[in-house]
Amino acid sequence: MREHRDFLAIPDFTTDELYGVFDIADRMRAGQYDKKPLNGKSLAMIFMKSSTRTRVSFEVGTYQLGGHALFLSPRDVQLGRGEPIADTARVLSRYVDGIMIRTFAHQDIEELAKYADVPVINGLTDLLHPCQVLADLLTVRAEFGKIDKIKIAWIGDGNNMANSWINAAYRFGFDLDIACPEGYEPADHLLERAQKHAKVRIVRDPAEAAEGSSVINTDVWASMGQEDEQKERERAFKGFTVSKKLMGVAEKTAIFLHCLPAHRGEEVSADVIDGPQSRVWDEAENRLHVQKAIMAVLMGQESVGG
Ligand code: CP
Ligand code: NVA
Repeated sequence: MREHRDFLAIPDFTTDELYGVFDIADRMRAGQYDKKPLNGKSLAMIFMKSSTRTRVSFEVGTYQLGGHALFLSPRDVQLGRGEPIADTARVLSRYVDGIMIRTFAHQDIEELAKYADVPVINGLTDLLHPCQVLADLLTVRAEFGKIDKIKIAWIGDGNNMANSWINAAYRFGFDLDIACPEGYEPADHLLERAQKHAKVRIVRDPAEAAEGSSVINTDVWASMGQEDEQKERERAFKGFTVSKKLMGVAEKTAIFLHCLPAHRGEEVSADVIDGPQSRVWDEAENRLHVQKAIMAVLMGQESVGG
């Protein structure tokens, strides 16, 4: 077994290591990083769900670091025809230096990581979307110069993004208010763990969450795999649209974040996502920088933390 680390969830890294990842990512964004830590290395990218940002940022990022990325869809690889995840993990490990996967059940990525002999990176599961929230935190740090001692609001579904924000609060200790309708709460076990380290609350009123917040976040009401619940969710999330009025309850300097893709007129109004407080394009760009930093650490020689 080759020694390696995975990135399946934000707490897989210590707080110090995460700050180290952000420092590398900032240098990359500023054009101050010209090393090629992935020289001669390959990343397998398995996508069991659609993607624009994740696919392009990982592929381009690998290339920019001197490596090569392979896009593997279930239509083309045997995994889609039922080859076990464990076998896929063992075989890919004989060819590539890292595996990024976007899939449904979180236990599938854990299974992949268990049998892989190379680093596994989470490109989204039903439970978590850690690379996205790292990009979001990088955006927050660029805006406010810090990611602790700040209040952040999540408005909407207690989904993979909300769960990753909870994991981020666990590591960084910022205040996090999650406004969601009953029945759409985030994962209990993540919430309970984070609440030991940070003020994380579930509230029912979006305005209560927005009040005093420097960051207002939302995401689609029906995630990938929940398309048949769209109508029922539209009813449940009535009143949860991030509107100009809701932004007005937040801090004057507050920014709006959305991992994208967005549905204007549903979870966010067009005047907010396309307005002056929106940072969604920087947020999308930061996927590239932060994932390059993660790959440089896990697959290259870059080190972070103590
Ligand atoms: N935000 C995000 O992960 O986008 P994609 O689904 O396009 O990868
Ligand atoms: N919660 C969304 C995020 C998409 C990037 C989903 O899982 O579809």
